[in-house]
Amino acid sequence: MGFFWSERLGRPASEPPSSGLTDRDKSLGRERAPHLVRAELEQRVRRVRAATEALCAELSAEDAALQSMTDASPAKWHLAHTTWFFETFVLRALPRFRAFSTDYAYLFNSYYEALGPRIRRDARGLLSRPPLAEVRTYRSLVTARLLELIESGQGDWDVLGPRIELGLHHEEQHQELILTDIKHLFAQNPLHPVYRHPPPSRTETAPLPVGYKAYAGGLLPIGKQGDGFVFDNERPEHLQFLAPYALADRLVTNGEYLEFIRDGGYQRPELWLSDGFRWVQERGIELPLYWQDGGENTWVTFTLAGLMPVSPSEPVCHVSYYEADAYARWAGARLPTEAEWETAARDRALQCR
Ligand SMILES: [Fe+2]
Repeated sequence: MGFFWSERLGRPASEPPSSGLTDRDKSLGRERAPHLVRAELEQRVRRVRAATEALCAELSAEDAALQSMTDASPAKWHLAHTTWFFETFVLRALPRFRAFSTDYAYLFNSYYEALGPRIRRDARGLLSRPPLAEVRTYRSLVTARLLELIESGQGDWDVLGPRIELGLHHEEQHQELILTDIKHLFAQNPLHPVYRHPPPSRTETAPLPVGYKAYAGGLLPIGKQGDGFVFDNERPEHLQFLAPYALADRLVTNGEYLEFIRDGGYQRPELWLSDGFRWVQERGIELPLYWQDGGENTWVTFTLAGLMPVSPSEPVCHVSYYEADAYARWAGARLPTEAEWETAARDRALQCR
């Protein structure tokens, strides 16, 4: 995940950039929801469920069962948990509901206290049973039941429609987590497994010099405006005062971050928050996560395509808040606050590479 840095204007930075990767599925979608067209929702259910399965299609049963750290989950658990979500919050509300397995609530609940006890998070990688094939069957049956429900329109659609939409967004969050967790898992393996082959190599082009775009600030709306799905933490819309500020007009590159490393950035306490420098020292961190010394003043990084050379022109990623903050201080800048970034990004179109 790349980061921007902003010039030292106005108040100091105080908030880390939003990761967008947290598991925000506490809301049950009862808040304002747009009218949901069932035919559209049916297509989205097919697309999202198939996309999750495509992400796991090439994984072996062993790949899908392992958990490389407490904060990561096995792919098999993600496949089952996203299905348990629909079964619990949508299908359970229907007459004559029968759970696929009475054990699954214990195995695949994430953190819903109201739904009873659940397996410890750090024990998810011990679930050699149920086998992957059974989890895939579970997915198929729940997806089919969801599609039947949407087609029939039975039940209280004002409740079930928003819950299905919430479940789709929840599953898309877990798609990101599947890739994040597979990458971390494969990075532990000395064989450097390749999850997928790299795209055709692009010609390396030097990034343009950094420019700054100024924002006037003022009393500005923050949070979701109008209808349409958002997670509950994006509401309510509210006003926030921002002093004038400026943001860099492109992301920080690996090449720029290398200058920070070569300038002793990881060894200079004056650049770091005190707990950040303690984090660096206690863990012996000298490079971004997944980077390795490639010898002869080169670096390689572990990617979903295996070990690859660090590209100087690509945005730096897998740096923590502490590292991003130290880099910004070294560069004579600071990180933007969440409100500054949201205001700057609000009307910008997404660009996918
Ligand atoms: Fe979840």
